[in-house]
Amino acid sequence: MSEVLRARDLRMTYGRDTGTVHALEGVDLDVERGETVAIMGPSGCGKSTLLQLLGGLQRSTRGQVWVDGRQIDALNERALSRMRQRAIGFVFQAFHLLEELTAVENVELPALLAGRSPSAARHRAAELLDQVGLAEHAGRLPVSLSGGERQRVAIARALSNDPLVVLADEPTGNLDSVATSEVLRLLDGLRAAGQTQVIVTHDARVAATADRLISMRDGVFVEETRLDRGPSGPLSELAGLEG
Ligand SMILES: Nc1ncnc2c1ncn2[C@@H]1O[C@H](COP(=O)(O)OP(=O)(O)OP(=O)(O)O)[C@@H](O)[C@H]1O
Ligand SMILES: [Mg+2]
Repeated sequence: MSEVLRARDLRMTYGRDTGTVHALEGVDLDVERGETVAIMGPSGCGKSTLLQLLGGLQRSTRGQVWVDGRQIDALNERALSRMRQRAIGFVFQAFHLLEELTAVENVELPALLAGRSPSAARHRAAELLDQVGLAEHAGRLPVSLSGGERQRVAIARALSNDPLVVLADEPTGNLDSVATSEVLRLLDGLRAAGQTQVIVTHDARVAATADRLISMRDGVFVEETRLDRGPSGPLSELAGLEG
């Protein structure tokens, strides 16, 4: 099967003091290799929940998820975390960099966790920082970087284990418009390079970098649009990772 991700009848119910919340109410999704899918929808409609289930950060209440043809619901914690380390790159709105590590140390960490040798991990991390235009910042701590620079480090980190799929949850949510443009260009370059991506966003410009746009409401998909992208798409002049 050529899907990198497949979900069937995915459901998530959270229990709370105030009652239960049905965050996902039956979602089916197939993401093909090399495809970039954007997911949009109002606050609370279940977007982050969906990404977390797809990436094995949480377990669903019902339904199944396959990553690269392998059903992950049946995996124990150890196997699930190994799957995440090998197959998934996460990008979060709040960056989630480790503040006590330098940029290059943050980037190499997933590669080390995925079992790369220290020298291979460092080499790859340096290469990725160069690709996101931050080669000179490799030795800096996150606190000394701007929001846009931090998110570019976080994207480099997400790529350091050569993931099958990058899952990004509002990657520009904390950024001003200049930094958003930088991250946008980076994500579009990744798409052009064939990186499979699922991007949750409130920003139409970010959504426009996708091959397919899915709208969610109240825990279900309500609309799906295929965007006219490809090498000759409207943003192709922005493709390419060099800053
Ligand atoms: N850990 C949790 N415990 C209880 N309820 C939760 C939990 N996480 C999410 N929810 C609830 O599930 C619903 C969906 O949340 P989710 O974070 O997936 O939405 P979202 O679409 O990502 O929203 P936003 O755009 O604000 O990030 C919301 O009602 C939320 O309050
Ligand atoms: Mg969210």
